[in-house]
Amino acid sequence: MSKTHLCLSSVLLLAMIHVSSLRRLHDRLPRQWFNICKVRSKLSCLDHGTDSHVVDVIRKEKLTCLVCDVHPDNIWNFHDFRRFTERSGRDFAISVRCHDEGNITLPFPIRAAGLRYISVTNCLILDYMSEYFDSAINAIPDTLVYSSIKNSVILVDIMKLIAMSTNMTDLTRAAKCGPEKNIIVSIAKNISYTFGELPESILDDVFDKFFSSTTSKFMWGLLTSSHTCFYSKLIEMDLSVSRTRGAKFDSILINNAHYPALESLKVSDSLLSSIPDKFNYWRMDFPRLMNLDLSHNHIEGFDGVLDYGNLSIDSRIGTLDLQHNHISFITLHELESLLHHRFVKVDIRNNPFNCDCKMRDFIDYFRRPNNLIQGGNAEQYDYLRRLKCQEPLFLKGRTIVDLNHSDIGC
Ligand SMILES: *[C@@H]1O[C@H](CO)[C@@H](O)[C@H](O)[C@H]1NC(C)=O
Ligand SMILES: *[C@@H]1O[C@H](CO)[C@@H](O)[C@H](O)[C@H]1NC(C)=O
Ligand SMILES: *[C@@H]1O[C@H](CO)[C@@H](O)[C@H](O)[C@H]1NC(C)=O
Ligand SMILES: *[C@@H]1O[C@H](CO)[C@@H](O)[C@H](O)[C@H]1NC(C)=O
Ligand SMILES: *[C@@H]1O[C@H](CO)[C@@H](O)[C@H](O)[C@H]1NC(C)=O
Repeated sequence: MSKTHLCLSSVLLLAMIHVSSLRRLHDRLPRQWFNICKVRSKLSCLDHGTDSHVVDVIRKEKLTCLVCDVHPDNIWNFHDFRRFTERSGRDFAISVRCHDEGNITLPFPIRAAGLRYISVTNCLILDYMSEYFDSAINAIPDTLVYSSIKNSVILVDIMKLIAMSTNMTDLTRAAKCGPEKNIIVSIAKNISYTFGELPESILDDVFDKFFSSTTSKFMWGLLTSSHTCFYSKLIEMDLSVSRTRGAKFDSILINNAHYPALESLKVSDSLLSSIPDKFNYWRMDFPRLMNLDLSHNHIEGFDGVLDYGNLSIDSRIGTLDLQHNHISFITLHELESLLHHRFVKVDIRNNPFNCDCKMRDFIDYFRRPNNLIQGGNAEQYDYLRRLKCQEPLFLKGRTIVDLNHSDIGC
């Protein structure tokens, strides 16, 4: 064989490899995503620390793992993917990371046949609400086991939202429930909203309307939606870091919805000024809850917490995490409420305890024998005796129960 011949055949060979890898690519992802997404080995497109139940499901499946890096000049549109999966018959795990305010088109409830896992970070999301009333979505298989949107901004068309708010009771089941049948982990963390540009002339009118009626109609619609959702596999829900948590979000969460497997619910860092009403009833709506994370909020007390735990459903003791809130003193009523809890431990460590006369009941309580020290809850509430003052300055760091009345100025 001559040298040129050799060269030529290796060029041909390379070309063939190129064509075949392109063909492989062709059945692995939509053409529009070729420059944006890469096929990765299985499990390597999953978020760091993905729940082991999810990893177990993904590990057992034959699926394509995609990692997409979306830059400002890229177009990543969920509709392209949905059209593609209708034909491909493959299963997918997708991780989308936006850079420099790159945007994606992603209609909730993110349904496409064979989509098992999706993680979105740092994106501007367009058309998020565009399929709320599209009943065709109900017919697409609900296959997601993991859905995560973090550190992202949803672009809301305010005129459409105003129009939509009157129709919220017509919300499809798919949109009311979101990923439901197979979902194990659901994360919507640090999501904010932005409104597109509006003509100045109608701005005031729009905002008046928006604040006076749109939000309440929207909530009311969600609250009265008749679809019932069964999250039979959902173990973890993370809704933390929010500046826009609506007043009734706890009611909306549990309205016509069942969470028989939920163990972890995170609503930390969400500007809550009190424990949301429905979260006061431990395990009433979440019969297997192990951790309700309300840390890093502005909650000032916990005297409404009632324990509806049921021994025959789950006998474990869970935690209501109230660390890093605004609890500055502890009342006798609150201490006594702890005595009635069997399946929940309230954790109030790391709060800004102010050792003034309002702490008298707390100190006196631990001066005498009490049921919190001697009863069944002794061990889990031992930490109360080690709580330290944050204020005033001259008592900072002192153990609260070691103080006497004159220390706290009463
Ligand atoms: C979204 O990205 C596309 C592609 O770069 C761009 O043309 C469009 O203006 C962006 N849209 C918004 C609302 O930023
Ligand atoms: C929340 O997301 C925004 C981007 O939308 C980011 O700039 C910010 O740092 C995030 N905040 C937290 C607490 O992660
Ligand atoms: C709301 O419902 C009315 C009547 O069913 C319909 O005409 C209108 O297009 C709907 N609006 C939206 C935003 O879906
Ligand atoms: C506890 O749950 C069981 C079903 O597992 C039910 O039969 C029983 O009535 C429940 N008890 C209470 C006190 O709610
Ligand atoms: C209270 O404790 C302080 C030390 O923290 C002590 O100096 C003071 O004598 C005590 N007062 C009474 C009434 O026991």
